Amino acid sequence: MGRKLLLDKAHIENIRYYDVYRANGGYESAEKALKMTPELVLDEVKKSGLRGRGGAGFPTGMKWSFIAKPEGVPRYLVCNADESEPGTFKDRYLMEFLPHLLIEGLLISSYTLGANSCYIYIRGEYAWIPDILEEAIADAKKNGWLGKNIQGTGFDLEIYVQRGAGAYICGEETALIESLEGKRGNPRIKPPFPAIKGLWDCPTVVNNVETLAAIVPILRIGGEEYAKYGTGKSTGTKLISACGNINKPGVYEIEMNISVEEFIYSEEYCGGIANGKRLKACIPGGSSVPIVPANLLLKTAKGETRMMTYESLSDGGFATGTMMGSGGFIVLDEDQCIVKNTLTFARFYHHESCGQCSPCREGTGWMERVLKNIEKGKGKMSDIDLLWDIQRKIEGNTICPLGDAAAWPVAAAIRHFRDEFEWHVLNPEESQVRNFGLAHY
Ligand code: NAI
Ligand code: SF4
Repeated sequence: MGRKLLLDKAHIENIRYYDVYRANGGYESAEKALKMTPELVLDEVKKSGLRGRGGAGFPTGMKWSFIAKPEGVPRYLVCNADESEPGTFKDRYLMEFLPHLLIEGLLISSYTLGANSCYIYIRGEYAWIPDILEEAIADAKKNGWLGKNIQGTGFDLEIYVQRGAGAYICGEETALIESLEGKRGNPRIKPPFPAIKGLWDCPTVVNNVETLAAIVPILRIGGEEYAKYGTGKSTGTKLISACGNINKPGVYEIEMNISVEEFIYSEEYCGGIANGKRLKACIPGGSSVPIVPANLLLKTAKGETRMMTYESLSDGGFATGTMMGSGGFIVLDEDQCIVKNTLTFARFYHHESCGQCSPCREGTGWMERVLKNIEKGKGKMSDIDLLWDIQRKIEGNTICPLGDAAAWPVAAAIRHFRDEFEWHVLNPEESQVRNFGLAHY
């Protein structure tokens, strides 16, 4: 069994409630942190090598150390719980079953950053979770972990839960900040980064739910010990939400030192491909990351075993690699149509584009239309090159990463599965038959 740091107590009945959480070691990390100086807590986070778990993998300790500290200006911590990346549902699990783990992480993080107000911005579709969080916040407050003069330290903290209204773009940190301020969720141009000018123009750290929950085990075992979990620059454990054509979909905590093959085929995790089918491809980090065909998924282009780490998953760049992303692990079996899959994602990004920049606003719609034609057997060969051109014109030319996220899946699908696109063009009447077998792999 792999070692666990976040879900090690998830099996305990009623761990969602304060008394049970506390009786099982809950808030001991916070107790420890509150006796340290914020600088020492920050040192532990830096030593841990923790990287942001929302998708970008930015070093957390570094982000925290960037926060500006002008005199008399409040600082804010924002917990990004707007988990909307298709295939990603790990933060939902943490918030639903271990709300106090998150609150404890928020307390330690706010103390370290010198923030007295913290906001949890949660996606609108997670309609039942705010009540769970509000109850946990009330219980934490009743027991002296929130409010004024926490545990007699003189430190004050309030946590507020803000519901989003179901827009994917509000998961982008600056759009989230705009939305928190009561405005339309349009991304801002960066820099300035939120650490300098964020919520109400004040220094703000925005971190993902899992990142903030991981602060608790880091304080419990120490940053150095945490860094011994995993490998290389992928320290600690990572939650993976696995879905698609596998036997055991669900949320798994992995130590980042196992192979992709072990994750897909072992009984401890996905339990293999469903219905005795064969693996065709995988999107390992949520819909925004490039799709990888089976032959490049288990081994890198250099023939090395591909590991569930930030480095190994991206090995080979976009030509043969992909990204850890948000850990939304989508597995496709031999019967799945790549063109249809790509169209589904393109439709999503078109729908979710905020419309501020023309390459994204126009390009996502254009890609959707061309893909729809190809998928329906109404496409031309030149449409494949047209698609390639459109995605290239979007990538790197937009205000926020949604543009790139829309372009990459299209680019990777054409790069690795061009023959499937051609098949749709050449076989218009059979275009709705989506069993391509394993001809490609
Ligand atoms: P990013 O790379 O621009 O930034 C990462 C973080 O580091 C941000 O918080 C940014 O403010 C901070 N940062 C970077 N350079 C900095 C500097 N010089 N000074 C201060 N702070 C700095 O990436 P971003 O836009 O935050 O995230 C994109 C990722 O989000 C994508 O890779 C995608 O996988 C993921 N994503 C996740 C979703 C989910 O539901 N979990 C939804 C959509 C996308
Ligand atoms: Fe809006 Fe798309 Fe531009 Fe992002 S890339 S700001 S979602 S139009």
